[in-house]
Amino acid sequence: MLDYTNPQLIIDSSRLEPGSVTWRSPSNLALIKYWGKHGVQLPRNPSISFTLNNAFTETTLRYSAKQNMGKEIDLTFLFEGEPNEAFGSKVEKFLISLVEIFPFLKQLSITIDSRNSFPHSAGIASSASSMSALALCLCTLEETFCATLNEDAAFDQKASYIARLGSGSACRSIFPTMGVWGETLEVSGSSDLFAVPYIEKVDPVFKTFNDAILIASRDEKSVSSRAGHELMNQNIYADARYSQAKQQLHYLLEALKVGDLETFGRITENEALTLHALMMASNPSYILLKPNTLTMIEKVRAYRQDTKQPVYFSLDAGPNLHLLYPDSIKEDINNFITNELMQYCQNGEWIADMVGEGPIQL
Ligand code: PMV
Repeated sequence: MLDYTNPQLIIDSSRLEPGSVTWRSPSNLALIKYWGKHGVQLPRNPSISFTLNNAFTETTLRYSAKQNMGKEIDLTFLFEGEPNEAFGSKVEKFLISLVEIFPFLKQLSITIDSRNSFPHSAGIASSASSMSALALCLCTLEETFCATLNEDAAFDQKASYIARLGSGSACRSIFPTMGVWGETLEVSGSSDLFAVPYIEKVDPVFKTFNDAILIASRDEKSVSSRAGHELMNQNIYADARYSQAKQQLHYLLEALKVGDLETFGRITENEALTLHALMMASNPSYILLKPNTLTMIEKVRAYRQDTKQPVYFSLDAGPNLHLLYPDSIKEDINNFITNELMQYCQNGEWIADMVGEGPIQL
């Protein structure tokens, strides 16, 4: 069993000069959804996602020798340059939970400054981008102070593991193009503990796929993902769901390999609607979709019927519609969005995103 606990990761204090590290890390969109967990952020089924490009978090971590010895973790947290208590206390708890993995955290005064590329509270889940960015900064600290992560694969695996502890789906954001999280015989090296890159067996058409995020509502969701995962423990459809996810992964991987857009779209849409069906069928039941989400889904299906163009939708745990399509029809879909969908977006807002190359250190 992989165990990253390591009491030796401490800093020789004579060498502790102040410094900083910055990572930009993207969000991701799951095609096979992770919904339901156990233990410490372990998934009930394997999932796979597109790594996005334009929806990202940039996190700068500044450090110096610890000043405030009274606190286990001496943290100042800024969001978009301003102190943010709600995010700050979440991050502080997260860092406290990591002191056995990164004992050097107790030797530092840390300022974390985080900003998103997408508008604040645009209804886009930012935990994947923010937690992966933070995990990457922490692994760079380890590498800087202890030189223990100089192999890229080892660095990425640990960053993915740490991101997973922050927010399950964040572990997939570490990798370019696509990431798979959750042990499955379909993908060698896959694990419940971290995600692995998935790129070789993906047809080129998917490597430049577009994801237009149509903002049906900017409101904060009424039920958090954490509560949603929890409700899966009593959901009577849970077992059927976990085996469905495994089956759909099998067929999706085949479609990704051969560039079968139709099968890709059928499975992706089914996964999105299954996720929301599980929410509606949980006890208590809840609905995150908005009337405009459903209107846009109908419009997408009608457009596809009329034009025969390969444009499909997905959803995260929220009301915003992700429109997925190959780069070859980008112009047509831009027109479709402008003419038929934008009017159902809050303040006409949508974000043009696409499959991306993964995080970068700035
Ligand atoms: O990572 P969490 O705990 O916020 O869960 C997110 C789950 C979904 O976004 C709905 C699906 C997924 O696999 O990303």
